[in-house]
Order: sequence, then C-alpha cells, then structure tokens
Amino acid sequence: MSHRKPLVGGNWKMNTDRTTSADLTRGVVDALKVQTDAEVVVFPPFPYLLSVRAILRDRGSNIRLGAQDVYHKPDGAFTGEVSVSMLKDCGVQVVLAGHSERRHVIGETDEQVNAKVHAVLDAGLDCVLCVGETLEQREAGHTDPVNQRQVRAGLAEVTGDMIERVTIAYEPVWAIGTGKNANPSDAQDVHAKIRKLVAHLFNQDIAERMRIIYGGSLKPDNAAGIFNEPDVDGGLVGGASLKVEDFAGIVRAAAASRP
Ligand code: PGA
Repeated sequence: MSHRKPLVGGNWKMNTDRTTSADLTRGVVDALKVQTDAEVVVFPPFPYLLSVRAILRDRGSNIRLGAQDVYHKPDGAFTGEVSVSMLKDCGVQVVLAGHSERRHVIGETDEQVNAKVHAVLDAGLDCVLCVGETLEQREAGHTDPVNQRQVRAGLAEVTGDMIERVTIAYEPVWAIGTGKNANPSDAQDVHAKIRKLVAHLFNQDIAERMRIIYGGSLKPDNAAGIFNEPDVDGGLVGGASLKVEDFAGIVRAAAASRP
C-alpha cells in the first residue's frame, strides 16, 4: 500500500458567483471538518479567491486554496493576465497548469505550460500539472506517447528539489465533463507508466513519493474504485465539486483508500 497522502482538488472552473462560492466553501468546510487523511484543495475563479480564503481562515479549515491558472511573467503590460505573486498575495498555495480546457479551448502549448510550472515552483507554491489524451488520440493508440510528451514537456528543466511540490493530474480529455470516467484498471495503467517516466526523468524515490491523481467525471459512486488502484493518489474533480455532498463523498473515498 502506498504511503502517499491522497489529494483531492475541487476545480470550480468558470462557475459560481459571490454568493454561491461562499455557500459552497462553507458547505465543504462543514461537511469535511478538519481532514487529516486527505489533502483537500479548492480552486475557485480568480474574483472569489479572497472571499473563499477568508471563510477558510475564519472557520479554521485546513482546506488549501488553489488557482486555476497563472501567467508566467512576473508583472508588466499583459492585459487580463494574473501573475503568481498576485496569487500568492491572495493566499493561493496551489496552482493548476495545463488543464485540458486551457490546452484545447484556449490553445496553450506544452512550452507555455512548462513556463507556468516554473513560475509557480519558483514562487514556492505547489503545482498540479494536468495531462491527458483526447478521444481521437486514444482511438489512434496514442494514449501513452501523448501523456509521456506532456509530462516530459511540462516538467522540462524542473530540478530535483522543486519536483517535490509537483502533483501530476491524469485527466483523459474524453472523460472530462462527459459522465464517462476511465475504468480503474485503465487509469492505473496510465498512472503506473507516468510514475515510471518520473523515475526515469528524476529517480525512483521521487517517483515513489509523487502524487499522481485522476480527473474526469469523478463521482462519489465511482471514486472508490479508481482511488483504490495503487498508483492513483486522489483526484481532480470538476462538476461534482460544485455539490457539497458529492465533493465530500469523493474526499471521503480518497481518505479511505489508504491505510
Ligand atoms: P469533471 O472535470 O469532473 O467535470 O469531469 C474534471 C476536471 O476538469 O478537472
């Protein structure tokens, strides 16, 4: 059994408003109390980071605050972008890089994702690097090469001391928001291969300690089956993270998946 503490992230995407982000935060905090068997992170939209943080702090919660994206430059004339120091100033501790919607809807490249990973790690924050193949790539038999390329490129020039703050999220694009989750053994297969690649790029010890989480249509009733696989160390949750009971159920499944 693995010694890695599971991580569950709630990626709210471009959802909620001032009222519902606050209600959701309070609901999640109350449902989970202080969790010790799983690390929990919420990723609200930028405008609500400060108010979500205030609620987490006021309630003494150990739920961590995450941001869904960041721009890699420190400051300057980049209209509409948000820097890592601004995120840090708002109390953000964890940042997503390379979510499939950023890659496939907004058009981010592997190089841009890598620049974001560096910006986040250089600032001392934790980073969740998201990778995953599209349906077309899967059907063409390219699942492994696509994930390997995205991991290699995303982690390019990341050093041994910084890698400790990276979590990889395997999120098959065809499973995101579709209601079709990967079956546990398929997820396990990809996770094991990613871990092997991390061992090759860094070393065995780093690979053993790195959390590799799954994302794509996680629900309370499918989470346990996926989290019980030995190389799946929790999950990144989209749609179900907007419902307190569903998100809490997924966190409980992750907490129960390790001895
Ligand atoms: P989903 O999204 O849970 O709605 O499929 C997952 C994600 O995009 O992180």
